[in-house]
Amino acid sequence: MCGIIGLTGDGGALDAILDGLRRLEYRGYDSAGVALADGGALWRERAAGGSHSVADLAAATAGAPPSRAGIGHTRWATHGSPTVANAHPHLDCSGRIALVHNGIIENHAALAASLAARGHVFTSETDTEVLVHLLEEELAGGAGLGDAMRATLRTVRGAFSVVALAASDPELIVAGRRSVPLLAAFGGGVGFVASDVSALLGRADRYYALEDDQVAEVRPGRLRVTDDEGREVVPTAVTVDPSWDVVAAQKGGFDDFMSKELHEQPRAVADTLLDRRGADGSIVLDELRLSPYDLRGVDKLVLVACGSSFHAGMVAKYAVERWARLPAEVEIASELRYREHVLHERTLVVGVSQSGETLDTLEALREARRAGARTVVVSNVVHSTMAREADGAVYTRAGPEVSVASTKCHLAQIVALQVLALALAQWRGTMGPAAIASVLDEMQRLPGAVADALSRKKEVDEVADALGDARDFFFIGRNLGYPVALEGALKLKEISYLRAEGYPAGELKHGPLALVEPGTVVVAVLDPLRDKMRSNVAEAAARGATVVSVAADGDRNAVGDHVLRVPTVADPVLAPVVEVVPLQLLAYSLARRLGNDVDRPRNLAKTVTVE
Ligand code: M6R
Repeated sequence: MCGIIGLTGDGGALDAILDGLRRLEYRGYDSAGVALADGGALWRERAAGGSHSVADLAAATAGAPPSRAGIGHTRWATHGSPTVANAHPHLDCSGRIALVHNGIIENHAALAASLAARGHVFTSETDTEVLVHLLEEELAGGAGLGDAMRATLRTVRGAFSVVALAASDPELIVAGRRSVPLLAAFGGGVGFVASDVSALLGRADRYYALEDDQVAEVRPGRLRVTDDEGREVVPTAVTVDPSWDVVAAQKGGFDDFMSKELHEQPRAVADTLLDRRGADGSIVLDELRLSPYDLRGVDKLVLVACGSSFHAGMVAKYAVERWARLPAEVEIASELRYREHVLHERTLVVGVSQSGETLDTLEALREARRAGARTVVVSNVVHSTMAREADGAVYTRAGPEVSVASTKCHLAQIVALQVLALALAQWRGTMGPAAIASVLDEMQRLPGAVADALSRKKEVDEVADALGDARDFFFIGRNLGYPVALEGALKLKEISYLRAEGYPAGELKHGPLALVEPGTVVVAVLDPLRDKMRSNVAEAAARGATVVSVAADGDRNAVGDHVLRVPTVADPVLAPVVEVVPLQLLAYSLARRLGNDVDRPRNLAKTVTVE
């Protein structure tokens, strides 16, 4: 997720762009840049300053020429590290077209190869840069910038919003999008485009949402929107809540970041899956930096992580063992460090960390490297310490997660790890191309299934109401349902402060059952071992527990006082991605009923850099 702003017709274009970028920083902040129309040329400045890139950019633009039009970008890196060279805007070979982009261009590698063969020179590692060279070819062929954008977007696959400016027509800003939101707007005679309304509050008073594959041509006071065939269409007007301030707008109409991030989960999963399949159908993991040759002697995989990331690692263990037939262990990072572990050059250690900075996980990875193991990190932050130090990386593409309770990053971690498990299966020859393709096809259905699970929030709220003032919760599951139960318990305790423990369902009778009495709530994840789970549920119900179960739509014999239904997922290894959603919603609902600040729960921090 990146932030985009473009404007035309404002004598103070640079100030307005910098102001918009500051408001968009919550969407990403590892680098920032601006391009301005400068007479018959373009002027560009970029900065890559970690969490203060926009401030650095503002300082660097002190000598900018006066300009009435420009585009700006604040980046959350997905392809290529957060360097100045990778920062947007990107320029074509002539330096006369500038472009900013949010999203992922899936077929960028093939496009870059053919553009390079036609003589284009690339200056970044991004997937974005192909777009500006494609525009360059269209303009060279005589197209205007609007037609050039339409033709360019027809050749690319992926999810994106894009804005361009050309020296040849300096009053014109052209924008297009697919699956990633983008607004056009006006305030007085000034025309704008932006990723979201927060960038434009106080400047614009008329807003229009671009639809998929539409192209907007914005001039001072004028908007022309066309569809993918070039036919002019009536732009979709949007009403902006007059009570919104910048923070409210950043929450996009949700009450808090947690519910916004819950609803961003389908996108986070979809983006994490984009771009992982090569032209021949094989798995491609660009930043893994390890080849089958490097991994040929690996005889064990160890996943290290904390909290929700640990639970994602637990789900992955099943995928690695089932698909790649490689022994897999999951370790709490803070425990691995001080154990007499048996790690060596034949061990692949995978650190799972949203932030990439959690000290326990970082030190466990360092320990693994000291022992000679190869290390890979699954992280949401491309420039994180773990990502820099590890031998390879697989990035989740969830965009910044603001709420302390991890939701969209947790789901993105699970699917990223599952793709890694498929890559290992491919290299070890434990799955053939057809079997891998079939799992990948099933994974493509996950964003829709997650959206479906989220749409059932009302049912979850009704269960939360029915639970009244319950204070004691056990979350139980077996096999792949066990990490889902653990994650449900963690989410609940973290934001509601209610006592919630996760157990393997078979363990209940070995001790914890002594605590079950009328008033205790047992949340049971029924799949994948639903028959076995039925007896564990019965054991709890017989002691007076109120049972809430998570069951697939297709399960006709689901047990429990309340059943939270989820869409059926054909492959049980993938089902946790969907099953965890009602448990996130339940935690959210109960915490809100208790009046808690769900974004900033007491005693916790988003990134834990202490032991
Ligand atoms: O940034 P990390 O993924 O390394 O963070 C690990 C845990 O601190 C984190 O998952 C924590 O448990 C979350 N607050 C859970 O919602």
